[in-house]
Amino acid sequence: MKKILILDFGSQTTQLIARRIREQKVYCEIHPYSTPLDKIKAMAPAGIVLSGGPASVYDSDAPLSDPALFTLGLPILGICYGAQLMIQQLGGKVEKAEKREFGKADLSIEYTGGIFSGLESSPIHHQVWMSHGDRVEIAPVGFEATATSSHSPFAALRHKEKPFVAVQFHPEVAHTLIGTDILRNFIFGLCDCQPDWTMHSFIESTVAAIRNQVGTSKVICALSGGVDSSVTAALIHRAIGEQLTCIYVNNGLMRINETESILRFFKEKTRLKLIDIEATDFFLSELAGVVDPEIKRKRIGLGFIKIFEEEAKKLGEVNYLAQGTLYPDVIESVSFRGEAPIKSHHNVGGLPEIMQLELIEPLRELFKDEVRELGLELGLPEEAIYRQPFPGPGLGIRIMGEVTLTRLEILRQADVIVLEEMKKSGWYRKVWQSFAVLLPIQTVGVMGDGRTYENVIALRAVDSKDAMTADWSKLPYELLGSISSRIINEVRGVNRVVFDISSKPPATIEWE
Ligand code: XMP
Repeated sequence: MKKILILDFGSQTTQLIARRIREQKVYCEIHPYSTPLDKIKAMAPAGIVLSGGPASVYDSDAPLSDPALFTLGLPILGICYGAQLMIQQLGGKVEKAEKREFGKADLSIEYTGGIFSGLESSPIHHQVWMSHGDRVEIAPVGFEATATSSHSPFAALRHKEKPFVAVQFHPEVAHTLIGTDILRNFIFGLCDCQPDWTMHSFIESTVAAIRNQVGTSKVICALSGGVDSSVTAALIHRAIGEQLTCIYVNNGLMRINETESILRFFKEKTRLKLIDIEATDFFLSELAGVVDPEIKRKRIGLGFIKIFEEEAKKLGEVNYLAQGTLYPDVIESVSFRGEAPIKSHHNVGGLPEIMQLELIEPLRELFKDEVRELGLELGLPEEAIYRQPFPGPGLGIRIMGEVTLTRLEILRQADVIVLEEMKKSGWYRKVWQSFAVLLPIQTVGVMGDGRTYENVIALRAVDSKDAMTADWSKLPYELLGSISSRIINEVRGVNRVVFDISSKPPATIEWE
């Protein structure tokens, strides 16, 4: 299977380039711009994309890739900074533009071959998205302009003999209406790729790789019932069957019937070897009297590690720990200038070091929606695949103040009403997350003829792509009304519901 290599120069949209290419069923990987030539050769890509980035090519500390890239005989597409770098390294000239071009621009195509195959030429205009302060002033020998915009005489260029193309605009963003055509022309036309990156082929190659890595060793996987850990477990089970043991810990901080339905599902619908640990009392006693959210998180995390270690010991020698790390986590942990990772990502807080286990992360090349597709292909049901994210510390971080059985019960009842109403109205899948939070205050109300002094529930619903940023969801008033009146009528101990209208940043999604 052919693959495309994307060299990252730090653009906000580098991941989008990968998304767009993979949507065409062509596999691609993002690597730092400074990846050594030998490593690039060893990857044997069918083509290379140089991403955009915030720097200027004429800065003294501009990020540069090895100019010998252009001697490999591979098709190369430069985007924005990547385009300017290509032009500069091949002998052209890039300078600060008099006018920055930012946002939508009209592109006139002068040459309708190569990446512009099938697109209409000038005087037809195509909407593209620009974001640059520098521009190409002189093309290198052998290059010609293939498109212009009002501020860029070289909005796109090509080498007349070699497979090098450069675009000043961003084909990967949705505002560039011809972006998909351009990327398709590059990967299928210039790079001669086939649309053969499917979940089926991914499963086949990953299963083989896991068998190869693990041999006859034992693997454990912490199963939370969430999408990532469920798909990880299903995939590894497909590869090594009984060598995998999954451990589910009920920390008492799950939602109504959640533990029961997760366990029922895995026991009835899969053949995973599953150990389930009931640890509600242990966690609640660890949390007794704790109000500070960070201490709550630490106690829950440490409690989890303790139980996990004990169970793993009982299994005898275990060499591997499976984790559902996704591609965005992997990219985030690679710093831009190719230095050491700035953030190491562990779903199960420090377990691998403590237990000296090697990690298996079979989803580390996938985006969240690809994981969902993979889960469906592996036969997991839709309700497991399309669950909203639920934090590891569970309801523990959605109860402000002390976590007690009584307060958990109030939140559980409110939470299930939110869930039911969101599903009934068709909003559950439209938002990233929607949930109830129990506040640490009482307020005055009136019920019947009597005064009440009871709890407040906050409703949180957000739209997001990756949880890094989020906006509050504009839920319809009728839906907000039915959630509020059901909670106040049905949940004892609550007389007020408020709706959180803060975005992230500066607020976070969870209240803690
Ligand atoms: P915040 O509150 O930081 O949350 O905006 C971002 C996203 O992460 C989820 N979250 C967690 N997920 N373990 C998890 O697996 C955790 O400890 C954790 N804390 C927050 C949160 O639900 C949201 O989707």
